[in-house]
Amino acid sequence: MKKYRKLIVFATVLMLLLATLTGCGTDGTDDDGNGGDGATRIGIVLPTKDEPRWVQDETRFNEALADTDYSVEILFSQGSSASEKANVESLLTKGIDVLIICPHDGDAAAAAAEAAAAEGVTVISYDRLITGTDAVDYYVTFDSIAVGAAQGQYLVDSAEGEGNPLYLYAGASSDNNAFLFFEGAWSVLQPKIADGTFVIKNSSEAVALQDKAELTRDEMGRIISQVTTNWDFNEAKNKAESHLTAAAAADKGDVYILAPNDGTARSIADVFASDNDVTSYVVTGQDAEKASVQYIIDGKQSMTVFKDVRTLVKDSIEMAISVLEGNTPQTTGSYNNNVTDVPAKQTEVIVVDQDNLKAALIDSGYYEASEFTGLE
Ligand code: BGC
Repeated sequence: MKKYRKLIVFATVLMLLLATLTGCGTDGTDDDGNGGDGATRIGIVLPTKDEPRWVQDETRFNEALADTDYSVEILFSQGSSASEKANVESLLTKGIDVLIICPHDGDAAAAAAEAAAAEGVTVISYDRLITGTDAVDYYVTFDSIAVGAAQGQYLVDSAEGEGNPLYLYAGASSDNNAFLFFEGAWSVLQPKIADGTFVIKNSSEAVALQDKAELTRDEMGRIISQVTTNWDFNEAKNKAESHLTAAAAADKGDVYILAPNDGTARSIADVFASDNDVTSYVVTGQDAEKASVQYIIDGKQSMTVFKDVRTLVKDSIEMAISVLEGNTPQTTGSYNNNVTDVPAKQTEVIVVDQDNLKAALIDSGYYEASEFTGLE
């Protein structure tokens, strides 16, 4: 009898402990206990807090989820596939039904997606595609080829005459988007390299392939591995520094720089701005990060590609809710992830420079004018 009583006390303590634990968030958690039966229904995993882009996504998710009836938890993987897998496993133990995940490394995340699928969880790949597995149900994304094409087109439209020095940079090769951005940019830049408008200055692999209008993934991989920033500000800075150290004064002057996103654009721009032989530079970006919007106002970054995260967040939440309600989410196309065609919903992007910055980013309510200085 005594034994049983002990057992009951132990079980009660255990239950209380579990209840407390499941009510606790870990780093970056939005354990808001919104409505529902208390169980976490939607789990969201984002790649890192170290880039403003993903903190922006977290903010927009929190804004959009404020009124939802479903409880949601957001976790960050801090650039580690192992943490990403652990995050997914932790969400699975909380009983999620839908996983919205932006992978740190597209291939490596296949294991996490498969673990989720094995438990009957619907997997939505967010912004970056999880590759090499059929365990991805949906993909919510921007038009990444259009992002790269817009960057390339901006450089083309800014250049006059022949022999303009071109410096190429790319994202991380573990990110499928880095290939899509590069593919888009190359489609626009290559004809202008072939006709002599631009001369590539920092990639022997790109020079070797400069007569090819369309590159295979392997060929793109060769160029990307030479000019990758790995989405890392410091790596971007170090690469730009070593490129400018290696370049002769004649390879500088008025230069054109394909920078893959805002974070790396700012690092690269700072390096080019401080080189005495660089007279002017045009540099691309993407994400409309606050710091880059200020750089554009100040004339230190030429453009950004605005990807309205509010739309991506809205689309992925609508998709998740549709799944939770037993419906089939609406999609607009599909992306092949090397194993299967993943049904996808795609959002368009907007090119922003000094001319339309106010209309695109302030008047649209994305940012407040008071967040910037020197805005007219
Ligand atoms: C995203 C970009 C982001 C980059 C680095 C890409 O997959 O689409 O918006 O700047 O990753 O995090």
